[in-house]
Amino acid sequence: MDGPLRARAWPAQLWGEVRKGGETGKGDGPAEFVLFPKPRDLTSGRFKIRSTPTLPTDQDLFRVITRGIPGTAMPAWELLTEAERWDLVAYVKRLSPVFGERAAGPPLTIPPPPRPTRALLKLGERFYADAGCVECHGPSGRGDGTSAPTLTDDWGHPIVPYDFTIPGRMKAGSTARDIYRTLLIGIGGTPMPSYADSLSEKEMWGLAYYVLSLAKAPPRQAPAETGTVRVRRVAGELPADPGAAVWRRAPRQAVLLRTLWLRPKTIDRIRVAALHNGKEIGFLLEWDDPIADQAALSVEEFRDAVAVQFPLRSPDGAARPEPSYVMGDREAPVNIWHWKADWQLDLARYRGVEDRYPATVVDDGPAGRDDPLFLTARAAGNPMALPRRSAVENLAAAGVETLTSQPSEAQVIRGEGRWADGKWRVVVVRALRTGNSRDAQFEPGQATAAAFAVWDGAQRDRDGQKAVSLWQRLLID
Ligand code: HEC
Repeated sequence: MDGPLRARAWPAQLWGEVRKGGETGKGDGPAEFVLFPKPRDLTSGRFKIRSTPTLPTDQDLFRVITRGIPGTAMPAWELLTEAERWDLVAYVKRLSPVFGERAAGPPLTIPPPPRPTRALLKLGERFYADAGCVECHGPSGRGDGTSAPTLTDDWGHPIVPYDFTIPGRMKAGSTARDIYRTLLIGIGGTPMPSYADSLSEKEMWGLAYYVLSLAKAPPRQAPAETGTVRVRRVAGELPADPGAAVWRRAPRQAVLLRTLWLRPKTIDRIRVAALHNGKEIGFLLEWDDPIADQAALSVEEFRDAVAVQFPLRSPDGAARPEPSYVMGDREAPVNIWHWKADWQLDLARYRGVEDRYPATVVDDGPAGRDDPLFLTARAAGNPMALPRRSAVENLAAAGVETLTSQPSEAQVIRGEGRWADGKWRVVVVRALRTGNSRDAQFEPGQATAAAFAVWDGAQRDRDGQKAVSLWQRLLID
């Protein structure tokens, strides 16, 4: 593909290395293991979302690339130009021989939607039971029908029938028109069947409006996944205390997140405020999380955490190729600031096994609990075993599975997190410039980028199992 690097680097992480003549697009890229639902094997020639009974049309592929697939890690690629997205359509089609063997055929026609009258809704409600939707999607539409636990897709993965009480997250789109298409065609490779032969046009519209009426809140127009975060200039200090007046006053901006691993409750946005004072730059990161998970002392416990990621610039200040938002790539590494809820508690007092299991007997060394003879990792200078100096870890990455903690002397990020009223508020602050080539450097007046990630310990998030944003433009006043 002759398309731009940024259009290439990211798919490579998910769909396997893109090599001329090599095996490509099989859905076995290095990020595959952190994703559920899994990235599709694009060589298989089987597609879920289409407007024809067989293959997707170019328009279908273009629509999926542009809109993304809600509820999965597949983002909306609105950031790419239209030409770049058509480039990707052509590239995707080249990955599978089926497109050379047969044509997609004309799309089935979707007639103009009728008005959603009460009679039509009643008809939909009746057919919801009569046509068997209820067996998979459940009586209240929560995706908990009697057959639901047994369903698998053609790729051998368990699959859940859509929960109609969630507004706006259908993969093939959530308008009445989109649902009509879904009923006409089905969802390819899944147990969601086509009803083209068994339901009339009117019945399908009735069902479309009925399932939409089951959503708890009307679908909102989703904000764009990429926006601009402005770093406002302020006079005076930038405290790490999220309760400080300067942070309380700072205007927040919502950034959408996408969960990489399907779970019942998603953290779908983070609110960000960004400030600098000519010397330091800081971010307030705020998100809703009903349970504060700060323990992570035993294997079954997971902590809450948040991270900001920045692209590195080359030493002469020129922009490198835009890195993949999935932790950068080899040509374009990233700098990550990672705040962890358990480290925050450790700052007050380093906690250990006895904090979780008070009856534990610890055999102290001759010099007591902190006898270096028995704290071998600490004696060896392992930064993970040293007493914490900050709740924020400064990390470097150049792609999935390359995440590296920076050495002790590079751990220069201040940070503090507080949980109250079902919300985490975390502040991270660092000097605009450091002498470290693995750190992002910031200049007033500069435009760069930032991406965000949130881990929810209560839902067992860890490592790559998290919710992430795409790159946001970062404009520094
Ligand atoms: C045999 C089980 C089964 C039956 C019967 C069934 N569905 Fe589904 N349905 C599914 C599964 C599984 C999915 C999820 C597909 C996916 O996520 O890829 C789904 C997804 C959907 C979606 C969302 C598609 C999207 O874009 O994400 C709609 C709308 C839907 N079904 C409507 C219906 C209606 C209306 C009926 C009855 C006429 C029905 N389904 C019958 C299994 C079923």
